[in-house]
Amino acid sequence: MSFSNVYDDMERAEAYATLAFPGTYYLAYRDLPALIARYVTGREALDFGCGAGRSTRFLRDLGFNACGIDISRNMVQLAKSIDPSGTYQLVDDCDFSAFEPARFDLVLSAFAFDNIPGFAKRVELLSGLRRLLKSEGRIILLGSTPEIYTHEWASFSTKDFPENRFAKSGDMVRIVMKDVEDARPVVDLVWFHQDYVNLFAAAELDIVAQFTPLGREDEPHVWLTETSIAPWVIYVLSQR
Ligand SMILES: C[S@@+](CC[C@H](N)C(=O)[O-])C[C@H]1O[C@@H](n2cnc3c(N)ncnc32)[C@H](O)[C@@H]1O
Repeated sequence: MSFSNVYDDMERAEAYATLAFPGTYYLAYRDLPALIARYVTGREALDFGCGAGRSTRFLRDLGFNACGIDISRNMVQLAKSIDPSGTYQLVDDCDFSAFEPARFDLVLSAFAFDNIPGFAKRVELLSGLRRLLKSEGRIILLGSTPEIYTHEWASFSTKDFPENRFAKSGDMVRIVMKDVEDARPVVDLVWFHQDYVNLFAAAELDIVAQFTPLGREDEPHVWLTETSIAPWVIYVLSQR
């Protein structure tokens, strides 16, 4: 089976567009405002893989001039219809020529790398994004941990996909989102920490900090695995 961008599918894109920050997603975004305040100076932000604009609007609410880019026409259309005053741009794969180099203080990638195939493509994208950073700029890459595909979560189920346990970096894994009506499994590409380390080195990026947020008992969510195993990883990256 070949891998295609699941968000090219309009039904999937519309289901995703309804998401705010429910359940397990809350954990992905919970610590970002504090991390951004700590590691990012300046207000010019690019949201790589903006989807329906959830992460772009999040950046704007933090005070950034945020531009969302995506390769999925459906997603960009949805982002524009949800937020007509926002800035969203359709781009070709690996083509950042619409932006002059050294323009951004922050490049956020929220979940986009869960769908990008292969080491070489990832390096090309990260190298391209690195060139868009100002000298003190940061890339914040938020993605799924390998463990998300092998446990049960407030917002996700993987029990029907035991084969996920044997997946290596770049392999396809399946996961069902519980917060949307579209119950068809999402096909992602898993990526392990050591391979992220290798990827960043190849893209001439340094890891400034790394976070794996856990759920807390006092939060208003019915956590399943979230208090003991992290579903998400956040890398803060700088130019080498
Ligand atoms: C899971 S969605 C995340 C959307 C958004 N960042 C959020 O947090 O709601 C991932 C998005 O990355 C986009 N994407 C995948 N590969 C891309 C690429 N090479 N360039 C730009 N966007 C890409 C997909 O089309 C999809 O809309």
